[in-house]
Amino acid sequence: MSACMDSSGKRDLVSIDDLSSNEIMALFRHADEFREDLRAWSHVCRGSIMATLFMEPSTRTRLSFESAMLRLGGGVISAADAQSTSFSKGESMADTVRVVGGAYADIVVVRHPQDGAARVAAQYAAVPVVNGGDGAHEHPTQTLCDLYTLWREKGELEGLDVALCGDLRYSRTIHSFAYALARFRANIITMPYPGFEMPQYVLDRLAREFGVSTAVASVGDLSGLASGDRGAAYLTASKPHQLALFTSLSKVDVDQIDAIYMTRAQRERHAGESLIDYPRISREMLKSERLRDTRVMHPLPRVDEIDYDVDDDPRSVYFGQAANGVPMRMALMAFLLGAIELDAERPTSFASDAGWCPPVQSVRCRNDRCVMNGEGARYLPGDFRLFRDESPPRLTCAFCGREVLAPVVGSVQTRRFHGHDHPLVRRIKVENRAYFESAEQARVAGFRGDEGVEA
Ligand code: CP
Repeated sequence: MSACMDSSGKRDLVSIDDLSSNEIMALFRHADEFREDLRAWSHVCRGSIMATLFMEPSTRTRLSFESAMLRLGGGVISAADAQSTSFSKGESMADTVRVVGGAYADIVVVRHPQDGAARVAAQYAAVPVVNGGDGAHEHPTQTLCDLYTLWREKGELEGLDVALCGDLRYSRTIHSFAYALARFRANIITMPYPGFEMPQYVLDRLAREFGVSTAVASVGDLSGLASGDRGAAYLTASKPHQLALFTSLSKVDVDQIDAIYMTRAQRERHAGESLIDYPRISREMLKSERLRDTRVMHPLPRVDEIDYDVDDDPRSVYFGQAANGVPMRMALMAFLLGAIELDAERPTSFASDAGWCPPVQSVRCRNDRCVMNGEGARYLPGDFRLFRDESPPRLTCAFCGREVLAPVVGSVQTRRFHGHDHPLVRRIKVENRAYFESAEQARVAGFRGDEGVEA
């Protein structure tokens, strides 16, 4: 989205929203060219330096970015873990990227355990920033690799039927992938391990912005996919009023499933839950005639979710997803560094219909994992997106996407507050409005309420 195009014109990739659909397709065409001969492009980014700042472990993302940059003829400086950097002494992401982005490096790739940390990096760095995974929030370059693989396999992205399976709550690859699939009008079935359903804020956004019906199918139906009983192949909903997360309910037919995207349990973000009967894809399951053209996908690393004897099945594309990370990331970096141009329009911001609140110091994000409540608590002002014409006002955290209802509105000039539907609110200029979750919060912030206003 346009939040990641700053006044200098630099482009960042913090969310998959930061690329338009046509830009994504244009990147695929460049990736295809790079893929033809990975060794033929050492002139493209000669002289450029990429820094990788990885505060969580990684094999594929960091090494494929570094390989991609080296293949483009650039150089790489790398921090592979927090302990080897001054993060371990308490240095902030903001200060780190101010130092690293510029004299040290021309582009920065970050991975961080807190939701929204990549957006902080993008805000403070003078050079393009790429999100290599921020907490449970997003992993947009994995999504580019996933979409690219699916596009190469299926020849198109529009209207594909994709089942997302496993830990949908904490898997950042799932969240970015779902937003992208919805944009391409894919039909999405969610098959979460119980207790690890897609977060409500993701489902809300899919419904609001893409018109996707929200529902949860049972993970038990994964084995049903392979049964000979056609009835069992129809995904059942875990609640009677729900069907499945499909853009078109008329297409709820697993005979049409193009891909099963399996994810591991993201144990590093769990609270020690024991996961019994976590779903697993077996060779036996893939014998089903109705899965004859289904691609088995996984962002990797795999733990136990796909049997090893499935690897040599031609429908298994997970190692291809990882390999495609190099040409895909070559294309992305060449673009962000200005070495190639994309013949495509920039994304129209989904926030363009929304206003940006003035900094709202009183409201804090409710997500404990948000960078705003993590290292950013020291220095980040509240940054919320306000959706117009909603009653009561709804604020979305610019860092992690979580939402807060703010039924109390004050004027920063008069320091008075009112219920959001009070006629006086309309007289407060948008830029002078302050939003609060409660009257008490407004009072604590030094605002005075009108007699009887206890919104
Ligand atoms: N898919 C992915 O992000 O893998 P790594 O954690 O190894 O980078």
